[in-house]
Amino acid sequence: METTLYNIFSMLRYRGREGHWAWVLHRVSGLGVMLFLLLHITDIFLLAFGPNVFNTWLFLFKAPPFRVMEVFLIFGVLFHAVNGLRVILLDFAPGLGRYQHVIVWVETVIVAIVFVPAAVITLAPLFG
Ligand code: HEM
Ligand code: HEM
Repeated sequence: METTLYNIFSMLRYRGREGHWAWVLHRVSGLGVMLFLLLHITDIFLLAFGPNVFNTWLFLFKAPPFRVMEVFLIFGVLFHAVNGLRVILLDFAPGLGRYQHVIVWVETVIVAIVFVPAAVITLAPLFG
């Protein structure tokens, strides 16, 4: 337990600038999306018991707090996908490592361009 806490602390303390935060976010988003997948496989499994059982639980996904969670899910999937492609790119072209900080900022812009409208569309119904 202590070891785990120490690891989390040192994981946040390491000051590798942009690449460091991209790495932390990649871990958190990977685990977050996997957690959602667990819930999602459970809810899709309910289809096996017929439409009534499945539909009974749909209220969960229509609840306002879930919309907020969905925004986190959109960010998680989007960031993990784009950052994953960055990691793969650097694996294949290590020479690009010299432009590492610039690449993280290009990635941030791409993520923001897709994320902001998606978040607005997802949250809009909450505000009428
Ligand atoms: C809120 C967003 C999402 C909605 C509304 C949604 C909806 C659905 C629905 C309705 C199905 C059943 C399709 C069918 O069998 O006819 C399904 C299946 C599935 N979804 Fe999603 N999904 C979402 C996000 C995701 C994400 C982010 C992942 C991956 C991490 C994912 C992975 C899967 C998988 C693996 C299946 C099972 C496919 C199969 O068994 O044929 N979904 N989803
Ligand atoms: C577009 C799709 C995806 C791409 C391009 C991608 C890419 C990657 C890459 C390159 C890594 C290794 C990172 C590294 O070496 O530092 C990774 C790790 C990981 N991915 Fe994905 N991934 C994708 C989808 C997913 C999905 C759907 C999930 C969850 C259901 C997921 C969960 C994880 C987890 C848990 C890790 C380990 C994180 C760590 O150890 O730091 N990934 N991904």
